[in-house]
Formats: sequence, structure tokens, C-alpha cells
Amino acid sequence: MKSHFCFPKTFLWGAATSAYQVEGNNHNQWSEWEKQNAAKLVKTINYDIPEARELDNYISGKACDHYDNYKTDFDLLDKMNMNAYRLSIEWSRIEPHEGEWDQKQIQYYKRYINELLNRNIEPVVTLFHFTLPVWLSDKGGFAKRSNLKYFERYVAKILTEIDPRVKYIITINEPEIYATMGYQVKIWPPAKGNLLQYLWVVNNLALAHNRASKIIHELRKDAFVSIAKNSCHIYAGNDSAYSKMNVKVLQYIQDYFVLNKVMGTCDYLGLNFYFSARFFGHKMKNPNKLVNDLGWDMQPANIQYVIERLYKRYNKPILITENGVADSKDQYRKWWIEQTLEGMQKAMKNGVNLIGYLHWSLIDNFEWVYGKWPCLGLAKVDYKSGRRSLRKSAIWFGQQIKRIRRYN
Ligand code: BGC
Repeated sequence: MKSHFCFPKTFLWGAATSAYQVEGNNHNQWSEWEKQNAAKLVKTINYDIPEARELDNYISGKACDHYDNYKTDFDLLDKMNMNAYRLSIEWSRIEPHEGEWDQKQIQYYKRYINELLNRNIEPVVTLFHFTLPVWLSDKGGFAKRSNLKYFERYVAKILTEIDPRVKYIITINEPEIYATMGYQVKIWPPAKGNLLQYLWVVNNLALAHNRASKIIHELRKDAFVSIAKNSCHIYAGNDSAYSKMNVKVLQYIQDYFVLNKVMGTCDYLGLNFYFSARFFGHKMKNPNKLVNDLGWDMQPANIQYVIERLYKRYNKPILITENGVADSKDQYRKWWIEQTLEGMQKAMKNGVNLIGYLHWSLIDNFEWVYGKWPCLGLAKVDYKSGRRSLRKSAIWFGQQIKRIRRYN
């Protein structure tokens, strides 16, 4: 059967993970915070799921033990005919103490990336995905502008060490989510602050990106740099001028506030898409016809509108760096991906230069404050035996990728 999808041959088809969520046995700001907060999380994270009531759920511990099993996990990429993989480097492994590089760990990531390159899988390397070394968190992390020099030094170190064939770099994952959760909503470490501090952290992260991008380009002329930007489709539920105005304001707060500061130093735009948010006036009221295991409203085809809006404004190639669904029974994932492909295809027909799609996640993993129970993986992970098994939807997705490639 000929696929009706038409994506370019060079399109990146892949999956994503982040170090702390999959590797296991990391020691950083999160692992310290978890120890002190797991008992509280059992009480406050309110999901009627047996695992959500277990203390152990909130401790990342050995996570998916991906650190020792990355080759097995890369086999999954091969099985799904994928040609790209987004990973992150765990800063606390590279620089466990201030100014001390751990050569063994640097060698590890070199082998890791080499393994991907040998399999013809394009690595998309994230430098900061929410976790800080303890020493840096003790110094105030990104809340102190004077600490940006540590990030710059780490970025320069990684870029001088990793394989020159690595082209796609993401400096910072979801700056506003990191700042919101840690400094405004205060349910992630360091769990302190206020609106002003939130704004200060966001500004520091934007500046950190701009400085990092400069460093990366000095070291690698052909590097392709971006942040990974969270964006949801914010839309008006009715025709009222108030709803429409509110949507514009929220789009500014959600997207343009940071993107206006960083897009000048981005070669492409990395985009993470999970949600839609429908507004009546200033009230958010989603249809919630279909919700995932975390209770998030599911309207995957809306990815089209986010891609189109941001492309129109910034005119840079777009790479979907995350997109997925918490769905332990695997009842929606195939539909979700299908709808997403439709949305992406329409955006491309409307002129968007979309260069790839990386599904979140390759394997079930440690979902931050929710812990281990939400299942966003293309592959299910049995945390006891360590066994991975591709879900039905993933097998279908892999076949689609093959078909789309063959026919375009
Ligand atoms: C983050 C991931 C996370 C995913 C699903 C994104 O905000 O970058 O680390 O697992 O969303 O919640």
C-alpha cells in the first residue's frame, strides 16, 4: 500500500530521552531533592494508581538502567527504522565537582555517540535537560547570572570533546518550564522563589543559550543550534474579542517572550508539543473529550497550528524535539502519531520547512515529579527485570517510517 504521507528523504525520524530520566544512578540536584521530597509527593500527587502511592515511584534510582543498556535501546531505534535520536548529557557526570572533569564519563558519552553514528543514527545532543550538579545548585544555579560562566565552560568542554560529526545541538530544554516549576509553582527543585525570580531565571537561561550558541559556532562552523521550546496550541473557544486578545497575550507570554531573545542565535527551532489550551475569555476550558493517563487533553493534530505560527514568525527550519502521550494501555498512541503526521504534513504543504520528528519517548522513564508510573515510551519498560518491549503502536510507527521513506 502506498502511503499518502510525503516527507522528504532527509527527514529525521526518531525518538528522544533525557539522561536523568533514563540512565539511572545519577547524583545531582534532583536526586538529592527526591530523597527529601518523595514522602511528600506520595501524599500530594493525586492519581488513583497503585504505583503513585509507592514511595519508590518518586525515586529515580536506577531508572531504566539505560546507562548500561544503551545498545539494547539503540536496537529499538533500528527496529523502528529510525535515523535520529535525541539524548542529553548529564552535566553532573561530566563535572561532578567544580572544575573537575571526569574523563571516564567523557569517554563514555563519546562511545555512546559513536555507537549512534555507526548505526547511521543522527544524534541530537541536549546539553542541559533540567538537572544541575549539586555544587552548582548550591551556588544558586541559573538564578545567579554570575553562574553562567560555568555553563559556558561546560559547553566548550563538551564541544571540544564530542565527535565532530555531531551537528544538532540543543543548548537548553524548555527554559520556561524549568523556571516555572522550580521558581514559580515550586514543585521542582530548588522549589523556592517568586514571579520576579522566575523572570530572572528565564532571562538568564536565554542569555546562557545565546552565549553557548556563540561558543558552539566558534568551535563548530557547521553546528546547528537551538533550544527545545515547549509550546502548546493556545486558541479561543469563541469569537469574543476578549478571548482572542487573551490568546494573543498568552502566546506572547508562552512563546515570543523567550523566542524573541534567542531566535537570533538559533539555526533551527526545536519544538516540544504536547497540549492544546482552549480559552473562553481568560478561563481555560479544554474539551477534554479524550485525555491521557495524566489527564491531559489530547488534540494531537493541533501541532500543525503551532508549527505554522512559529514558522511564520521566525522563518527557521523546525525540528519536533518532543511529542508524545502518557498511555500505559497503548490505546491512543497510534492514533496520536497518525494525527500528528497529518498535522505535520499539512504544515509542510503550507510551506513550513519541517526537518524532523522525534517522539517522546523511546522508552518509559522517570517522569519527574510524577515518578515512574506514567508510560510515555514507544517501548514498555519492566522496571524489575529491565526488559524492554516495543508497544504495538511503535511497531506500526516503525512500519510507517519505512513506507514513507520508500515512497517519497
Ligand atoms: C520534558 C520531558 C518530559 C516530557 C513529558 C517535557 O516537558 O522535556 O523531560 O518527560 O515533557 O512530560
